[in-house]
Amino acid sequence: QGEEASFIVMCDGKTVLPLATSQDHKRLLDADQGPNTGGMGAYSPAPVVTPEVHARAMREIILPTIKGMEKDGIPFTGFLYAGLMIDPQGHVKTLEFNCRMGDPETQPIMARLKTDLVDVLLAATATNAEARFDDFELEWDRRTAIGVVMAAHGYPMSPLKGDVINGLPQDSDDVVVFHAGTQMKDGQVLTSGGRVLCVTALGGTVKLAQQLAYDSLKGIHFDGMQYRSDIGYRAIAR
Ligand code: GLY
Repeated sequence: QGEEASFIVMCDGKTVLPLATSQDHKRLLDADQGPNTGGMGAYSPAPVVTPEVHARAMREIILPTIKGMEKDGIPFTGFLYAGLMIDPQGHVKTLEFNCRMGDPETQPIMARLKTDLVDVLLAATATNAEARFDDFELEWDRRTAIGVVMAAHGYPMSPLKGDVINGLPQDSDDVVVFHAGTQMKDGQVLTSGGRVLCVTALGGTVKLAQQLAYDSLKGIHFDGMQYRSDIGYRAIAR
């Protein structure tokens, strides 16, 4: 019972660097209805992960897992994604672990990351132990980022490919359109996968981020495109 959130950290084999928290929407349709998908949108931070829940997740889940792997002689280097279930009392349970970032959680997280990702990756894998995460700090944009996935005709059962995408906006400081299932052919951008785009916007409040994301995708068009109109509603309701 509870609310699901994504808790993604990076580890250099020893030291853990938590990324910003996030939450995704897995159902195809508004109000979390319809079939499950890989994710129709996400936002960061996830208000359900309060400072207390964050501390608890680190103490009860992430650190014992990382320490356990080190103790077993298989120190973990890379991204560890814990899918968490957080109950109304703030108890935290692990639903799953992935050894990767999340899609579409990554898009709002990256929109907020001010530190160069390459520096983080190089530090995590540095051969010189001194260069690793001990003194490394990630810098985050304090604003909320919301990413709205635009999915292909027929997604998730039988997505079509090859539809022409028109009206893509220019990226700006506050809006990034991440391409996932797209390809370039004869000068045109076409759909080439289930989750086609993730239109990601930053805002001073969850509502402002949501408004900017939806304003930015208004001009985008491809046949049969599908997107939810309520990404972020749980964060707004808090
Ligand atoms: N959005 C869920 C995942 O990446 O597993």
